[in-house]
Amino acid sequence: MKLKDKVAIITGAGSGQGAASARLFASEGAKVVIVEWNEENGKKVEEEISQAGQEALFIKTDISKEEDVVAVVQQVMDKYGGIDILFNNASVGFSERNKYKMAAIQDTPLEDWNNIIGINLNGAYLLCRHILPIMIKQNSGNIINNSSMNGLVGVTGADAYTAAKGGIVSLTRVMAVDNGKHNIRVNCICPGAIDTPMIAEVLEDRNISENFNGNPLGRVGKPEEIATAALFLASDDSSFITGLIMPVDGGWGAL
Ligand SMILES: NC(=O)c1ccc[n+]([C@@H]2O[C@H](COP(=O)([O-])OP(=O)(O)OC[C@H]3O[C@@H](n4cnc5c(N)ncnc54)[C@H](O)[C@@H]3O)[C@@H](O)[C@H]2O)c1
Repeated sequence: MKLKDKVAIITGAGSGQGAASARLFASEGAKVVIVEWNEENGKKVEEEISQAGQEALFIKTDISKEEDVVAVVQQVMDKYGGIDILFNNASVGFSERNKYKMAAIQDTPLEDWNNIIGINLNGAYLLCRHILPIMIKQNSGNIINNSSMNGLVGVTGADAYTAAKGGIVSLTRVMAVDNGKHNIRVNCICPGAIDTPMIAEVLEDRNISENFNGNPLGRVGKPEEIATAALFLASDDSSFITGLIMPVDGGWGAL
């Protein structure tokens, strides 16, 4: 029970890494708030966790809308009276490529650029903007941001996504520097290829199977392998770690 009675907000917890983290955090005793714009998926994860006798609350939210984020914070404060953990995990990526162009910069219309940055970077900013004052007042808090290896190196073909992920890395560092004095830790995970709906089509297109030769471990990661990294950062197991930019990538960054 590494997170006993901790209130943990996880964005994008209706799918993939966010859902795996919600399940793991709840099994470790956290009260998990599922912040997700896909109602069906958000409710499903809430139900699963409740049926396991653990605590979860789904709140339908678009993290790029400030009024939605303000409403989440209000609802969580009214119900639980505090916020211990924020996992900024939600993003749009290749799974939304019919909606937003995942392309090189010269092929990215401004509208798509703004929408992708609006969710993948501004969404985390909005959650932090409205939750940090609460954590500062508590004199405790733990923020984890989900970036990507795209935030650390140039990966072709999704420039707005990549720019947002670089922003998440820098935001993590400055927030860690500013908020250590308030007993708030801020860390960042940079996943490599993880088998979730976000890259399902890309894996299929490029004919990448489980025997993936793109990293030293020779396979694609599982969402649960990001959840365990998030749990490490969220728990006291990492009590002296802040400002860490942590690749969880099967060694891809070492190539
Ligand atoms: N899958 C990968 O290979 C990979 C690699 C590197 C980084 N990441 C990052 O990991 C994180 C989790 O992604 P995943 O792989 O689990 O993908 P996913 O598509 O399975 O999950 C993303 C979730 O975020 C939600 N979401 C998107 N926009 C939202 C919004 N505006 N408001 C609320 N919810 C919203 C989606 O509905 C979805 O449930 C993302 O930040 C992603 O960029 C993924």
